[in-house]
Amino acid sequence: MTDTTTPAAGGNEPAKAWSGRFTEPVSDLVKRYTASVFFDQRMARQDIRGSLAHAKMLARQGIIGAADLADIERGMAQIKGEIERGEFSWNLDDEDVHLNIEKRLTALVGDAGKRLHTGRSRNDQVATDIRLWLRDAIDQILELIREFQKNLLDVAEANADTPMPGFTHLQVAQPVTFGHHLMAYYEMSRRDAERFADCRKRVNRLPLGSAALAGTSYPIDREFVAAELDFDEVCFNSLDAVSDRDFAIEFCAASALLMTHLSRFSEELILWMSPRVGFIDLADRFCTGSSIMPQKKNPDVPELVRGKTGRVNGSLIALLTLMKGQPLAYNKDNQEDKEPLFDTADTVIDTLRIYADMITGIKVKTEAMRGALTQGYATATDLADYLVKKGLPFRDAHEAVALAVRAADVKGCDLPQFSLDELRIAMAHVPGAAERLGDDIFAVLTVEGSLASRRHIGGTAPEQVRAAITRARQHIV
Ligand code: ARG
Repeated sequence: MTDTTTPAAGGNEPAKAWSGRFTEPVSDLVKRYTASVFFDQRMARQDIRGSLAHAKMLARQGIIGAADLADIERGMAQIKGEIERGEFSWNLDDEDVHLNIEKRLTALVGDAGKRLHTGRSRNDQVATDIRLWLRDAIDQILELIREFQKNLLDVAEANADTPMPGFTHLQVAQPVTFGHHLMAYYEMSRRDAERFADCRKRVNRLPLGSAALAGTSYPIDREFVAAELDFDEVCFNSLDAVSDRDFAIEFCAASALLMTHLSRFSEELILWMSPRVGFIDLADRFCTGSSIMPQKKNPDVPELVRGKTGRVNGSLIALLTLMKGQPLAYNKDNQEDKEPLFDTADTVIDTLRIYADMITGIKVKTEAMRGALTQGYATATDLADYLVKKGLPFRDAHEAVALAVRAADVKGCDLPQFSLDELRIAMAHVPGAAERLGDDIFAVLTVEGSLASRRHIGGTAPEQVRAAITRARQHIV
């Protein structure tokens, strides 16, 4: 039989924050299962900042005394130092970062520490801490995207004139420049940055003041706290404020897209570095060897980016699933939001850092790129467009060039290697095609001619690639 008169924590242990209600202590397993302190201590700085703003508001409103505020500020300064110096002793018995800090505060300053939680709940406290933490993470990510973009633009600029085959279905399609190809990733990163900046607007709203779920009966001033903590506005519904984590889900969605873009880029780097393609080499510092095959140089970093995209996508699904079944308002399920969120931010930050550096180490093998252009009739479309400009309907031109390609296949040559007569003979079955061919066709069939002709906004002509880079530089600053 349980002795119902025994204090919950047993012996001389100080009672837990909520323990007076309970007649028996939780088992060690339950304690470990329900505790979050070993991962949420990452929010200690934000927790202290939020508590100081709350205490300042309580004092301004006359809810606590000026002496209490002074004690709380002194105690928190000490705790901050202890945490920074690694001297703070985190305790599983105190469940999470919030209770650990509050308990230490009370040990340091007595009753003032016990007054801090007036008009507040851990529910609005934790929602505030996560938002403060995520806001910092987003700012860091935005800065790192800028670094990545700057380096990408430098490599693109150096290769604004470097021809390579553009692919569809992984088959040689049309000539593009390597600079143009890289600028495709710039555009993706620009949308990624927009998404993070937009997500930040919804992250930057203050839940504090919602208390457990219904608000509080104290005369609090939420706008003051919002201003103290640099939030743009307060959350307008207390139930929503303590319970929804849509802002974290949005962040993970933006992260999943960013990683997906970098994963595609990685896939290309890996492919280009394969000796069968040989378009680029990566600096040694991003590659590793094999323990058995002495000749190997493996593109480990891009492979890991591709791999880590899986875990970031997984975190997005974890958070969506965490949220979908929860009735209003706060449920303990939400404690599970932190690990996927932290892991996502860590992965994105590390990946961007490494990528910004890695792209500066891309060695472009221009001869291999140009060589690949001769293998797939890359200027066939230019030939068709030439005939159309001379008055042949596009479908007939398409057929005429298809015949020329078939003839080139048989002969084992590329289109520009045909003589004018050979080209005419190849197209003879399409009425009106052969007689439209003139000597000027050979300028059109060159790679440079093909590139230069695509000179509208968004095209691959070197002058347009340079214009895109200039536009991007103005945009980043
Ligand atoms: N550690 C909790 C979390 O991460 C803090 C809020 C707990 N609130 C509560 N009523 N149990 O969500």
